Amino acid sequence: MKKIVAYPGTFDPITNGHLDIIKRGANLFDELVIFVAESNEKNPLFTFKERIEMAQCLAKEFNNVSVVSFKGLLTTCLKESNIKVVLRGLRTMSDFEYEFQMALINKKLYPDLETVLLMSSSEFVFLSSSLVREIALLGGDISKFVPPYVEKMLKRRTVNDGRGLCI
Ligand code: COA
Repeated sequence: MKKIVAYPGTFDPITNGHLDIIKRGANLFDELVIFVAESNEKNPLFTFKERIEMAQCLAKEFNNVSVVSFKGLLTTCLKESNIKVVLRGLRTMSDFEYEFQMALINKKLYPDLETVLLMSSSEFVFLSSSLVREIALLGGDISKFVPPYVEKMLKRRTVNDGRGLCI
């Protein structure tokens, strides 16, 4: 039987940190499915459609990675897809508390579900989507933090000449 893992997130936008987890997860499992959450409550910079497109663009680089989008509870969608493993990245100890809580709640909602946590590679420990958004909005160089397609999308969204303003 194929070992399939779901990698859920809002991905606003997807970063090299997420890509690190996707690459390593795709090596550990037969198939990895990126689950893009609607997450309207987070008021994302990118639309649901754009976030799905960014994930699809990345998935093309792999032969065992695909993309699914979902609204509502993750566990409902996982049950419908018959996926019993969730993959999450762990950057710092502060991530751990949140991940532990989410894994336990998801397990209550879907007892067959297991959560696998992969420690982030050291070069991505500091990275988060909101920091990338902030740097882009302030005109900074984000090329080291996101894949080229995402960089293009961010540049299009955040027109700024890159000059700081000292007042
Ligand atoms: N590398 C870089 N950044 C990472 C990362 C990694 N490996 N892992 C997480 N991050 C960042 C994300 O980009 C995000 O950054 P931001 O807060 O600065 O924007 C931050 O860490 C938090 O990410 P995460 O905890 O993964 O939140 P999320 O919104 O991406 O994902 C869901 C959370 C969508 C999986 C979860 O809310 C969910 O399942 N929602 C559906 C509703 C549901 O079922 N709720 C009950 C859950 S218990």
